[in-house]
Amino acid sequence: MISGAAKIAGVIGWPIAHSLSPRLHGFWLDHHGVDGAYIPMPVSPDHIEMAIAGLSKLGLRGANVTVPHKIAAFNAADELSPAARAIGAVNTLVCRDDGSIFGDNTDGYGFLANLKAGAPDWDPSSAPALVLGAGGAARGVIWSLIDAGVPRVMITNRTAEKAQVIADDMDGAITVIPWDDRSDTVVDAGLIVNTTSLGMTGKPALDVNLDHASPSTLVTDIVYAPLETPLLKDAAAHGCQVVDGLGMLLHQAVPGFEAWFGIRPEVTPELRAHVLAGLAT
Ligand code: ATR
Repeated sequence: MISGAAKIAGVIGWPIAHSLSPRLHGFWLDHHGVDGAYIPMPVSPDHIEMAIAGLSKLGLRGANVTVPHKIAAFNAADELSPAARAIGAVNTLVCRDDGSIFGDNTDGYGFLANLKAGAPDWDPSSAPALVLGAGGAARGVIWSLIDAGVPRVMITNRTAEKAQVIADDMDGAITVIPWDDRSDTVVDAGLIVNTTSLGMTGKPALDVNLDHASPSTLVTDIVYAPLETPLLKDAAAHGCQVVDGLGMLLHQAVPGFEAWFGIRPEVTPELRAHVLAGLAT
């Protein structure tokens, strides 16, 4: 039940029906008894500029932004956070009282918070990280790793040019590795991250040989459907520590909820179970 004073936020995407974000934020709204709502907003690419401008005009608190609108949101924001500027995309919009729109990117924050929660002993400064993939998700991951003090990020992608663009765009020690050499690089990595869509339900597995990974190597995947991807299964069989990707989704939502509804929510086992149940349906 909401009142006339309810705070409203939501998620903009195209399509949006598959999004778990309404379920996620709905759990926190309910848990904290907030007079508010978080709604799915299907917006086609033709209408994205108008829709973002309309957020504050309609009196909404803001919105998350997902595929394919993160660059459009970056361009539409009146002011950007340092993370959004470095990553070159926006996933969280906050409407301010003066009518302006602040653009943030919490994907990197969510990625790192999930790693810290799942592998508290992992020391980012101990060894380079190997990042597989150079799509939109890779940029947030790489920014967060550099920010966390990883000495070097090795990035490899089927289309090498896309990896090179990221290395050129972003500050920090980033080395581009040929895709065919990815398995040889595993030996140097303290952390291995899959940011490709490989391993997702219905797609082929990511083909990387972990025979030379050390037991201290941490392996994580941004794919969370299935929760245990073939990569994570293989990594566990090789004795590596593994962290699944669902926590990234949960943690990236925290700063937005706090900005819109005024309460910093927690990522708890109950939240995780609630969102997982939505994944299964
Ligand atoms: P975005 O995140 O920009 O929308 P995407 O199309 O979802 O990108 O792809 C994400 C990543 O998965 C990319 O790094 C992509 O590699 P390319 O840049 O070469 O397209 C990677 N990817 C998808 N399918 C792949 C496959 N069959 N083999 C290797 N990499 C693949």
